[in-house]
Amino acid sequence: MTQPENDVLKAAQDNLWLHFTRHSSYQQSEIPTIVRGEGSYVYDIHGKRYLDGLAGLFVVQAGHGRQELAEAAAKQAQELAFFPLWSYAHPKAAELAQRLAAQTPGELNRVFFTTGGGEAVESAWKLAKQYYKLVGKPLKHKVISRQIAYHGTPQGALSITGIPAFKEMFEPLVPGSIRVPNTNHYRADEISGIKGMTPEEYGFWAAERVARAIEMEGPDTVAAVVAEPVQNAGGCFPPPPGYWQRLREICDEYDVLLVSDEVICAFGRLGTMFGGQRFDYVPDIITCAKGLTSGYSPIGAMIAHERLFEPFKSGDTMFAHGYTFGGHPVSAAVALANLDIFEREDLLGHVTRHEPLFKQTLDDLSDLPIVGDVRGAGYFWGIELVKDKSTKETFNAEESERLLRGFLSKALFDAGLYCRADDRGDPVIQLAPPLIAGPTEFAEIGSILRDVLTRAWERL
Ligand SMILES: Cc1ncc(COP(=O)(O)O)c(C=O)c1O
Repeated sequence: MTQPENDVLKAAQDNLWLHFTRHSSYQQSEIPTIVRGEGSYVYDIHGKRYLDGLAGLFVVQAGHGRQELAEAAAKQAQELAFFPLWSYAHPKAAELAQRLAAQTPGELNRVFFTTGGGEAVESAWKLAKQYYKLVGKPLKHKVISRQIAYHGTPQGALSITGIPAFKEMFEPLVPGSIRVPNTNHYRADEISGIKGMTPEEYGFWAAERVARAIEMEGPDTVAAVVAEPVQNAGGCFPPPPGYWQRLREICDEYDVLLVSDEVICAFGRLGTMFGGQRFDYVPDIITCAKGLTSGYSPIGAMIAHERLFEPFKSGDTMFAHGYTFGGHPVSAAVALANLDIFEREDLLGHVTRHEPLFKQTLDDLSDLPIVGDVRGAGYFWGIELVKDKSTKETFNAEESERLLRGFLSKALFDAGLYCRADDRGDPVIQLAPPLIAGPTEFAEIGSILRDVLTRAWERL
């Protein structure tokens, strides 16, 4: 290893504070350090190649190493590196807002830029609270979200998050956040206590939990329902048929805003620009980030229905909320160039055409005794691991620790596949490659998973 490489590894050990990371795992080993990316692959500091099975972190839609995105950033930085959206506009933010508004379902025409997803969720909750105060329903402030769902780390977004282990050390969080069941169809019997529901019945049942929660809390106190088109944490729970339609009806009935948190699902992850186009619904607010620039520069957005902007149009009312870097000119320019790539290369069509093959590749692993369920949509899939396929028995905490942290994550990475082994719900492996991936990458994912999952089973 060269001296500069050694220096980087030492600096990472001595000074970096990694996110959501147990630093103790790297006491005896170096921190994996990625230096370069190209297409669907990344390379570590030793030159070893990995298939990026998670698009960074559900981000790098157009793939790594895109010169035109780097050039868009450089050009904008030369022209206007920075100006805030506080009482002023700049052309790239205006153009991007217009372009996003044109692509959303329904009349979601107002784009409030942030720097990331958690801030978008935070902004949505604050808007919901203020909106209802302005329209004479000041008690409406609570948010309903789903078990195990992850919505970010700012204290409001964390409060909406449904993962107790991520929240307990920061309690008390923002009050007024309520959980309902998610749409884990694999475990529908356990969750609902009702055996053998059809997907339609389960979708209706799960959506009704939201209605019951609104009634129990008092409709006059509930401002919003926040849900992902396909829930990430817990391992890619797609909505059962009719679920989003019923959520829409419930929100209309009780005058509650429907917030579609598409921080992962927007921008082609499901083969459509937004979740509403995939599952046929129109929310009141979309929160998004990640894939909007394919990660070449950070940005997020809260996109609101025109009607939510109405009370802010006149008088001395303003949304007293903002971020210095929200809608950063460089990020906005990169986002526009990224959306150009989406159009020119038909990334949405590419995902839609290849989804069946990706699904088939993962379904083919179902003969392995450890694979309990394969679920997802588009380029967003989870494989739930079980101890006993016939009973769906899951691993206990100690086994899960040994399996996921002790073996799987590292074994997959060592085998050349960067993806996620996650136990925020039942243990799952998650796959979400760049949207440019195709048959070659799927075959590689399939063969690495088969090998590593077979070895994992033998170790149990
Ligand atoms: C659905 C969802 N919402 C919000 C967030 C938070 O986004 P960020 O990490 O950009 O703050 C995430 C991050 O993964 C997410 O998946």
